Amino acid sequence: MTSTEIKCWGECMDVAVQIAHKAGKVVQEAVKQEKRVSSKSTPTDLVTEADQQVEDLIISTLREKFPSHRFIGEESSAAGEKCILTDEPTWIIDPIDGTCNFVHSFPMVAVSIGFAVKKELEFGVIYHCFDGTLYTARRGHGAFCNGTPIQVSKEKDISKALILTEIGAKRDPATLEIFSGNMLKLLSAPAHGVRIIGSSTLALCHIATGAAEAYYQYGLHCWDIAAAAVIIREAGGCVIDTSGEPWDGCFR
Ligand code: IPD
Repeated sequence: MTSTEIKCWGECMDVAVQIAHKAGKVVQEAVKQEKRVSSKSTPTDLVTEADQQVEDLIISTLREKFPSHRFIGEESSAAGEKCILTDEPTWIIDPIDGTCNFVHSFPMVAVSIGFAVKKELEFGVIYHCFDGTLYTARRGHGAFCNGTPIQVSKEKDISKALILTEIGAKRDPATLEIFSGNMLKLLSAPAHGVRIIGSSTLALCHIATGAAEAYYQYGLHCWDIAAAAVIIREAGGCVIDTSGEPWDGCFR
């Protein structure tokens, strides 16, 4: 990669921070309004008009600035757009992560913007829409919460760990059985505690700050994890798939 390209990704990240703030303010206003809610893959996989509006805002702003770049967005994918990662600079967007929280005004909702080039994640920006916290990281440049460096916890003993997870939108008997089995194992370990906050991106940011030791979930989409993966890695953590192998990005 040339030094011009590398500088350019830094400029892209500055734009991502500006847009995350702008989109976050739209979400903050939208949370006070009546929401039009519908469902996608399952009755608990929620989407609102605001999800679509915020994704349109983010993608149209980025497309104007970077016409040759590609985009993967949660709602565009739900609407049938193919989710294919190429070597081209690609933005991976979750406009409202924690849609169920958003619907209930439960204060754990984030805008998540990741950016990959040649299938390598270059930076991640996550904006907590309720408290205005901004999590950022660029590959090789460290991870930050509101500009202050962050680091994952050093605790390795599960009996001293706080574990985060999410149940996801699938509620079929097989999924619920796996979920309860995992919960039983963690609670009997016994881990200090297990938390579900309803936003995978914010949960992952809590891992990056060291507020909790580990996070696991089956069935995450690339937009749930792209930005957070850079933030966790730059905070000294690791991201692995469910077989324990290094996570390949959910795209390949
Ligand atoms: C969902 C949330 C939820 C997680 C799901 C995600 P969305 O994202 O992060 O906590 O369990 O797997 O899809 O739909 O609110 O953007």
